[in-house]
Amino acid sequence: MTTQPLGVGLLGLGTVGTGVARVLLAKRSALEARVGRPVRITCVLVRDLAKPRGVDLGEVRLVTDAQEVIGDPHTEVVVEVIGGEEPARSLIIEAIRQGKHVVTANKEVMAKHGPMILRAAAERGVSVAYEASVGGGIPLIGPFQLDLAANDITSVVGIVNGTTNYILTRMSESGASFADALKEAQDLGYAEPDPTNDVEAWDAAYKLAILASLAFGAPVGPQQVWREGITQVSQRDIQYAAELGYRIKLLAIARLVGGQVEARVHPALVHQGSMLASVDGSFNAVQIEGDLIGTALFYGRGAGSEPTSSAVIADLIALGTSVGRGSLQSQRASVPLRPMQNLQTRYFLRLLTLDRPGVMAAIATVLGDRGISLASVVQKESVVLGDDVPGAEIVLTTHIASEAAVQEAITTLQRMPVVRSIGALYRVFE
Ligand code: NAP
Ligand code: HSE
Repeated sequence: MTTQPLGVGLLGLGTVGTGVARVLLAKRSALEARVGRPVRITCVLVRDLAKPRGVDLGEVRLVTDAQEVIGDPHTEVVVEVIGGEEPARSLIIEAIRQGKHVVTANKEVMAKHGPMILRAAAERGVSVAYEASVGGGIPLIGPFQLDLAANDITSVVGIVNGTTNYILTRMSESGASFADALKEAQDLGYAEPDPTNDVEAWDAAYKLAILASLAFGAPVGPQQVWREGITQVSQRDIQYAAELGYRIKLLAIARLVGGQVEARVHPALVHQGSMLASVDGSFNAVQIEGDLIGTALFYGRGAGSEPTSSAVIADLIALGTSVGRGSLQSQRASVPLRPMQNLQTRYFLRLLTLDRPGVMAAIATVLGDRGISLASVVQKESVVLGDDVPGAEIVLTTHIASEAAVQEAITTLQRMPVVRSIGALYRVFE
């Protein structure tokens, strides 16, 4: 073993940073044996020096000036676990400028700025590794960069956000409210520093952008991903979906269709017997299809301190042993994206209408005129609308239809005097 230590500077000591520090200290001798030299934390950037930390760092200094971490001559690798776009992006660029390798768990920065960051790193002769940015502890970036590299990938479909999966699982299994389930996910350390990023599906869109870029060999930015969050998912929808044999999951889908990439993140009905329906709590699962491998499934803990530290430390070991990782491997400058309007899938629609003769027929006509065929119809006993008017809640599922036709039908339905509101519209994933 050479005696020159691998100096690790930590930017951030929150859920992930604390996990990384704990594992680096607790497993020091095993890690050093793997890396082939001593591993030392040089110093750690935080915002609040007085905050209690769940880890004893001994002599290691906590600082509030990032330059003290990045510029420390003993820091060889900078681990960025601050989160958010800024100052994280600027600090990663500064670390590269100073010739430091970077390990980051930051999907927002990698999704928005990955190509630029990786170009800067290549020019400076350093590596940027980001295994923890997608899927927490599940290996996904590494497999795309290496193990699956001989494949032409045709689809990547999965559950990539632990917080929303936890919320939907709790709402479905225990009837918990959205707010209570979100609070639990935050307490367990799954949520982003700003949980809006989870529930509005920004986090999943960032992750899908990273996976799609790797899968299809061209940059796919988060703004090119169709995005709908879970804030509108109600107990009623969860119950109706269950009656029809489905569960509601936030799905991330990137597929090649007719030479174009379809990239979308939205809540979807998945059949109760399917693999994705059984992915619960903070677990993630990603199913990848390639021409050589067929279907490969990656499943595991997608969030939390320990699983995420597993991925960060794997990147550190790889860098420490000079196994270079860290490229989006874009073979092409761009890839044609498939407009959402061209999507063909099945739909679930919940409407609140007046309870009058002919209402169902009128709705069926609006749908039928646009080539939308009904697969099932559920109407419970009358409900009372706000002004004592008798109403009906109608839940429909369709056979495969086009997104454009369904959106046009919704616009028409919303204008009909007998339709009080569109309660929900979900796509069904087959
Ligand atoms: P967190 O618990 O909020 O921790 C953030 C840390 O960064 C805190 O220690 C905070 O300091 C520090 N920090 C924030 N802004 C700073 C600033 N401007 N200057 C100096 N320090 C600053 O966040 P986290 O959950 O560990 O997430 C960190 C990153 O890992 C994010 O990119 C996230 O997306 C990613 N990630 C998280 C998970 C997960 O399960 N949590 C999983 C995979 C990836 P103070 O402690 O002093 O406030
Ligand atoms: N907030 C993220 C999630 C952390 O819930 O999946 C893991 O990236």
